[in-house]
Amino acid sequence: MLVLMGPPGVGKGTQAAMLEAELGLPQVSTGDLLRSARRDGSEIGSLAGEYMDAGRLVPDELVVALIKRRLERSDAQQGAILDGFPRTVDQAEALQTMLAEQNRQVDKAVLLTVKEEAVVSRILGRLTCGSCSSVFHVKTNRPRIDGICDSCGDKLESRTDDNAEAIRTRLATYRASTEPVVGFYRSQGLLREVDGGQTVDEVFQGLQGALKH
Ligand code: AP5
Repeated sequence: MLVLMGPPGVGKGTQAAMLEAELGLPQVSTGDLLRSARRDGSEIGSLAGEYMDAGRLVPDELVVALIKRRLERSDAQQGAILDGFPRTVDQAEALQTMLAEQNRQVDKAVLLTVKEEAVVSRILGRLTCGSCSSVFHVKTNRPRIDGICDSCGDKLESRTDDNAEAIRTRLATYRASTEPVVGFYRSQGLLREVDGGQTVDEVFQGLQGALKH
């Protein structure tokens, strides 16, 4: 099981989708799972919505239950690329217990690093497909046709939490709650770091290198 970590907007989703194609393992993004639950109008989706729009973390028990169900699916039996989970030490411990019960484990945790100024412009320029979750950027990763997803042809939109106020909260939440997870994996010898401030292809090369050691 591979964990992809880093602040909001660093490029976790972009790189996880590329790794999915490369490694043949599914990208499992708690953000995407929660957004899909909201679109479906499910109870978990409506509970999560308020937290997400404000840039705060959805309570651990909801997210852990969601990820448990997802990792039980057949396509995740050989492993998965976890994008945006775990985000608290409690989530990391719950993941460890859950995997141990199935004789599985986290094999590596890769931290993508970047300066905060860079993530703000990445997030404010992001366009997301509500149907297939593909991600684009108005300057650095434009879709072939303006406003239309290259992958599925649906309409691209800005996420409801991609505004200046929610971004400030998301960055503060990352520092307070998620940075300790970096130490959790470092202390287990599982952490690798990749400079996420490079181009998409350079970051991907760095990731491939980090996964070999
Ligand atoms: P989530 O969806 O996980 O959001 P996030 O962590 O804030 O991360 P982002 O999706 O914003 O960024 P990313 O790193 O994936 O970057 P991307 O590849 O899109 O979570 C949303 C919310 O859900 C949370 O705030 C919380 O409420 C809730 N939640 C989710 N998981 C949770 C959990 N485990 N526990 C509790 N609550 C949870 O790239 C960003 C932009 O930059 C794109 O436009 C992209 O095209 C561009 N870009 C990417 N790479 C590069 C590059 N190298 N150079 C230039 N541009 C680039």
